[in-house]
Amino acid sequence: MGTYPKLAGQSAVYLLAQMKDIKGGTRANGQTAIMKPIIAGVSDDEMKAIAEWLSKQ
Ligand code: HEM
Repeated sequence: MGTYPKLAGQSAVYLLAQMKDIKGGTRANGQTAIMKPIIAGVSDDEMKAIAEWLSKQ
């Protein structure tokens, strides 16, 4: 669905930056309001691991 970004194969650096920006509120565009409560429960170490994993898919 167009609303949902494709995360597989995306750069780990980019993914981590987006997760941090959405969590911190720096990125608050589009549908990021859906993401905020979810990413609030994800730690920095977990975000890093998720970004690395997604970049290899
Ligand atoms: C721990 C679980 C999740 C992770 C790690 C995650 C990760 C991300 C990342 C990295 C982005 C930015 C993508 C980009 O800039 O290209 C993003 C955006 C987005 N995510 Fe998630 N996501 C999660 C769960 C969810 C869930 C459960 C939903 C829906 C209910 C969701 C909906 C969205 C939407 C709609 C956007 C686009 C926001 C916009 O309009 O810019 N995400 N997500």
